[in-house]
Amino acid sequence: MTERLSGLEDRSPAPPPIPQPDHARPSDPQEVPLRLCNLPPLNAIANQVLAATAKPDVSFKQLAAVMECDPAFAADALLIANSSLFGFASRVQVLRHALAVLGIDRIKALAVTVAMRSFMGKGGPLLHQVWQHSAACAMIARLISPVFGITGDAAYTLGLLHDIGRLGLLKSYPNEYSPVLASTFENVDQVLSAERALLRVDHGVAGAWLVKNWSYPATFMQACEGHHAPLAPEDPEILQVVKVSCRIAEATGFSAVRYSPAPEYDDILRSLPSHLSSGTFPSAADLRAEVEVQIKSFG
Ligand SMILES: [Fe+2]
Ligand SMILES: [Fe+2]
Repeated sequence: MTERLSGLEDRSPAPPPIPQPDHARPSDPQEVPLRLCNLPPLNAIANQVLAATAKPDVSFKQLAAVMECDPAFAADALLIANSSLFGFASRVQVLRHALAVLGIDRIKALAVTVAMRSFMGKGGPLLHQVWQHSAACAMIARLISPVFGITGDAAYTLGLLHDIGRLGLLKSYPNEYSPVLASTFENVDQVLSAERALLRVDHGVAGAWLVKNWSYPATFMQACEGHHAPLAPEDPEILQVVKVSCRIAEATGFSAVRYSPAPEYDDILRSLPSHLSSGTFPSAADLRAEVEVQIKSFG
């Protein structure tokens, strides 16, 4: 994951055709959820942190105790806490000291970042492609969160997890799902249709299954399942920021799949309702540069 981000235009110029369903495959409607649910949890420590932070009276000492149970997790958390993603003015040597100043939302963001890094492991280029999109979405969500009136850390955490279904499908069904990620599509509906045709489930539903199975809060399920639906006035702000950030990530060179024509950042901003489009959004170039700098911190 140390390689520098590249835009979609840098990838192979001759993508394979959009995958079609293989009607000869045995059809077992239980197959997809069972295989997905057999995936190991994202990370036991991160799950405990998320569960603990759901309690209103949780203290950073309790969270530190959970995270320090696993020395590898604690070491990784300290590394990330000191990175430009969470940026301290001076280097922090002890995780407990870092957590004391991070605040609950940022501790959750840190725990999920560490968990996602280990969940990714040493994946191939397609896993890296999906991971880049998720990381970019998280960073963009944090950057534009003021427009939606929500905290940057909450937006970041949900952005990081919104496409966990893609990672889950790729890990559970590498042979079946890889062609989807290597194909070119006209729009996201075509992507979701191809996923359903091949695996009888799309990555949104798959992600919702996963986070439900891991007992994550309902907000996570909502973001996983609904992030490709059109923006709706009744959407909670946290879901709105994930929907918009996912599309912006696709338009700024961090798409999980290739689109032709590629989505345009300015078109996305123009399509927003007026109370959002009047907000302050960075330029596409600034956004891309900022994400490229921050994403190096993921290592
Ligand atoms: Fe998605
Ligand atoms: Fe996405």
